[in-house]
Amino acid sequence: MGTITAGVVRSRVPGERRVALVPDAVARLRTAGVDVLVESGAGAGAWFTEADYTAAGAEAVPVEELYRRADIVLCVEPPYADVGAFRPGQLLIGLLAPFRHLDLVREWAARDVTAVSLDLLPRTLSRAQPMDALTSQASIAGYKAVLLAADSYDRYFPMLTTAAGTSKPAAVLVLGAGVAGLQAVATARRLGAVVTGYDVRPESKGEVESLGARFLDLPTVASGTGEGGYARALTEQEQRTQQEALDTHIARSDVVITTAQVPGRRPPRLVTAAALERMRPGSIVVDMAASDLGGNVEGSEPDKTTVLDNGVTVIGAGNLPSAMATAASTAYARNIGALLAHLLNDGVPAITPDDEIQSAVLVTHAGAIVHQAVAAAVDAPDATGGTS
Ligand code: NAI
Repeated sequence: MGTITAGVVRSRVPGERRVALVPDAVARLRTAGVDVLVESGAGAGAWFTEADYTAAGAEAVPVEELYRRADIVLCVEPPYADVGAFRPGQLLIGLLAPFRHLDLVREWAARDVTAVSLDLLPRTLSRAQPMDALTSQASIAGYKAVLLAADSYDRYFPMLTTAAGTSKPAAVLVLGAGVAGLQAVATARRLGAVVTGYDVRPESKGEVESLGARFLDLPTVASGTGEGGYARALTEQEQRTQQEALDTHIARSDVVITTAQVPGRRPPRLVTAAALERMRPGSIVVDMAASDLGGNVEGSEPDKTTVLDNGVTVIGAGNLPSAMATAASTAYARNIGALLAHLLNDGVPAITPDDEIQSAVLVTHAGAIVHQAVAAAVDAPDATGGTS
């Protein structure tokens, strides 16, 4: 018997098929002396059966029992439907997106829940890399975005020579060359497309080129690198200059995949309606940044595919990692396992807020909101972020 019990809750977020631990990860935790409870049906969306989990040493239980017995609750998206079930002192770990769920943050603090959000992990800290769920999930999303594009594109991606003639390779443009963008570049290359990548961070040039793609140089835009390795927002003049040069390249492309994000801001608009108009019929645009606040592509909406009057298809990506739930859950479970290994000391959670990793990911602890930026957002007079 382990000294500590972790419980895996089933996601109640519509369309979310991922699960926080896969059976292999359960087996590893059991070896480390952790008991594991799994809510009945938690892995079904990712094709893991209750029998798989019990064979790996977990116990399948109803949700009420899970919250009663678990010391640590593991989730993918925040379990907002279950907020009333938490017990004081319980540890919650997941992709909690605290800035979007300020109401929940208040509740966790009030209920003395220690909430740890994997999406706050410092990205560039090398010892945190095995825990980097944003990276593992973005990489899957980048791969899937290319498959969606290829599936909708009514021509070949590769150059193919057959007795019936030779096909021209598809020209793919990837805008934003972070984790998702680089995986999209690599995947489109593997399918045989001629790929061009672009990013405002000049350091991404070498990364794009190392994948056998061309980097789109728009030399008039000054370095767009901001804090922590993320992009900074561009000035209006920079955006106009960037736009004019980009539009020409967009018009020449068969497939455009956009992945550009700036933390805490609306995604930059990179593909305007005017640029879409200039594209050839049959071209495909996938907007990985599509959100309710708008995305990189004018008019895109999450989870919605639109065929424009000129025959250009715009695909607003939804939850792409969930669309590859088995791979995404397997990678996520590894990230969770690495974080747990970091948090547990002699088999019990050792919360030490001055640790570099913990100080970044701890949202609430001992009845307070301990993450400074989240606390400031909660205290802001116009605090939104209510859970929807
Ligand atoms: P993200 O999802 O925040 O943004 C995606 C990409 O969009 C970024 O590369 C960004 O520079 C780009 N972008 C923003 N505005 C743009 C615009 N107007 N035009 C074109 N591109 C634009 O980024 P992600 O993938 O989360 O990565 C953020 C940073 O963290 C990157 O520098 C990445 O290399 C770094 N990182 C480093 C890791 C490490 O050192 N181990 C691990 C993961 C990420």
